[in-house]
Amino acid sequence: MRSINEYTNKVICGDCIEIMQKMPEESIDLTVTSPPYDELRNYNGYHFDFENIARNLFRVTKKGGVVVWVVGDKIKKGNKSLTSFRQALFFQLAGFNVHDVMIYRKKNTPFMRSNAYTNGFEFMFVLSKGAPKTFNPLKTKTVRQGQEMLPFNKKADGINKKTLGELKPEKTRTNIWEYAVGLGGSTSDRIAFKHPAIFPEKLAEDHILSWTNQGEIVFDPMCGSGTTCKMALKNKRLYIGCDISDRYVELTKKRLEILSPQYLTRGI
Ligand SMILES: C[S@@+](CC[C@H](N)C(=O)[O-])C[C@H]1O[C@@H](n2cnc3c(N)ncnc32)[C@H](O)[C@@H]1O
Repeated sequence: MRSINEYTNKVICGDCIEIMQKMPEESIDLTVTSPPYDELRNYNGYHFDFENIARNLFRVTKKGGVVVWVVGDKIKKGNKSLTSFRQALFFQLAGFNVHDVMIYRKKNTPFMRSNAYTNGFEFMFVLSKGAPKTFNPLKTKTVRQGQEMLPFNKKADGINKKTLGELKPEKTRTNIWEYAVGLGGSTSDRIAFKHPAIFPEKLAEDHILSWTNQGEIVFDPMCGSGTTCKMALKNKRLYIGCDISDRYVELTKKRLEILSPQYLTRGI
């Protein structure tokens, strides 16, 4: 078994199962990842052993650590696969809590169906090993601000007494997060689109900020174009990326190099 320091701030080419098996137990603070969806794309024909990936993710995640699993379903002959649900249920069997089922809503989506509403979202399953050890809630502005007569002290007489109070300027976001996709939405890095299925940088960043603190370890076992690694580096976390395709590993390394050298604390 190797030390986790041998993996941090590195992008490794290989099957993530083999790579995770060599990692020490309970060494990862957060995983943000997205698997191949129902073999929608063939990624050079690589085999995808979901159950083994789920078990190994549980093994390498720290107590209180979190895995964010971003996934959608294929439609075959008018029938949604629901692979996403099956995977979420298996994660529970593997030992994770399904801490939340969040929605990644797409502001713009080109894919239309003639006999159904346009699909505008994917799931983000937030899986935790016990209760999450970190939660830095992201906030949003409240619709109404300023002062208002607010009810207080409702007693047995049922009368709401009112007093002048300050409305809260912000509140914790809901679990539906919306992002534009495509160039200028998901990312402004043109080269990232050499990968066919990237998720938005902001999505990865928002989870990294929510579930980790600076200096902690963020992992993407199927890093594709390197979105999670890039956002981890940008936000002063340590990253570990791997992908079975050497082309995508090279792409991730290029995207990391584009980031200003000030972020590059160690070689990749
Ligand atoms: C949906 S893509 C990830 C895209 C990524 N989130 C991004 O923003 O660029 C899934 C990736 O999983 C990789 N992959 C598939 N099976 C794998 C395995 N067993 N081990 C490591 N990577 C794998 C594919 O090569 C592909 O790049």
